[in-house]
Amino acid sequence: MKQVSLISVIGGGLMGHGIALTLARAGHRVRVTDPSSEARQSLKARITDSLRLLEVDDVKTKLVIQNVEVCETIAPAVKNAEIIFEAGPEKLEIKHQIFSDIENYAPKNAILASNTSVIPITKIMKHLNGKHRALGTHWWNPAHMIPLVEVVKTQWTEAKYAKIMFDLLEASGKTPVMVEKDVAGFIGNRLQHALWREAISLVENGICDAEAVDTVVKASFGRRLAVLGPLENADLVGTDLTLDIHQNVLFDLERHAGPSPYLQEMVKRGELGMKTGKGFRSWTDTEAMSMRMRVSKHLQKLEGILNNK
Ligand SMILES: NC(=O)c1ccc[n+]([C@@H]2O[C@H](COP(=O)([O-])OP(=O)(O)OC[C@H]3O[C@@H](n4cnc5c(N)ncnc54)[C@H](O)[C@@H]3O)[C@@H](O)[C@H]2O)c1
Repeated sequence: MKQVSLISVIGGGLMGHGIALTLARAGHRVRVTDPSSEARQSLKARITDSLRLLEVDDVKTKLVIQNVEVCETIAPAVKNAEIIFEAGPEKLEIKHQIFSDIENYAPKNAILASNTSVIPITKIMKHLNGKHRALGTHWWNPAHMIPLVEVVKTQWTEAKYAKIMFDLLEASGKTPVMVEKDVAGFIGNRLQHALWREAISLVENGICDAEAVDTVVKASFGRRLAVLGPLENADLVGTDLTLDIHQNVLFDLERHAGPSPYLQEMVKRGELGMKTGKGFRSWTDTEAMSMRMRVSKHLQKLEGILNNK
């Protein structure tokens, strides 16, 4: 893999801190900038806390932190950078401004990546002079624990830049996947939200309650998903059986275009989930915190199991 001497991360919030942690832990020098002084001041402490949760020892933690430099503004953060990850707010106009600033101050051949959740990369990069070196890198939260990063090409992205990014991520311990076309939701969120749409529909139509939906997923195919993807599973049971099942069930699945009216009503009523104490289910603060801890511990354990296989 091509040696990368300096990486920049623009936006040091939830995702930016995890991206910086991952790359610094892989031995890269990383510069991070954020307009919020609170985010800048707390960055190294947040990285240290996350490394502790990952049970990284103090000596290694110190080495990771040594690789991270916090900059007040974007100009010094991207000067001499070879690869730049944008992890600013999910607002198109802010992302346009960030990439315009990056183009003003960064080397002309630096690779530019946005970590947007859902905004098409094409929309974010369309004003750039150097569209050929721009792409998407969709990391998943927590960025330092979930292996996947979707590398998204636009119609302008030159293959060599996507390949350099792919190799960098792989060498940094991630599991990159190349997305050849810039479609809404890339791969992961298309799959995930196809499932969520059906899950909401089952509740909306009184087939079961929300708890039953979650139990079915967690106690059945959810258990296999980390080691058996859907198309591997189709091959495992046979494409002929898959076709028979689809002939019987697909016509009955939810096909409503756009967000479910049931979901829209919930949001209107202020039932926003854990942050308001009620969504599909009711949550006390303690239950919400314990669920978050459970997910974090589970991801940690899973990483240990899969790495020692
Ligand atoms: N949170 C997730 O689960 C998740 C997952 C995948 C992708 N993403 C995407 O990653 C990006 C960052 O999300 P997050 O969850 O880290 O948000 P966040 O709010 O935790 O962090 C965003 C940071 O950007 C900073 N910021 C504000 N204006 C800026 C500017 N002009 N230039 C640089 N930084 C600026 C903020 O101060 C903040 O620290 C978003 O595009 C989001 O959609 C989020």
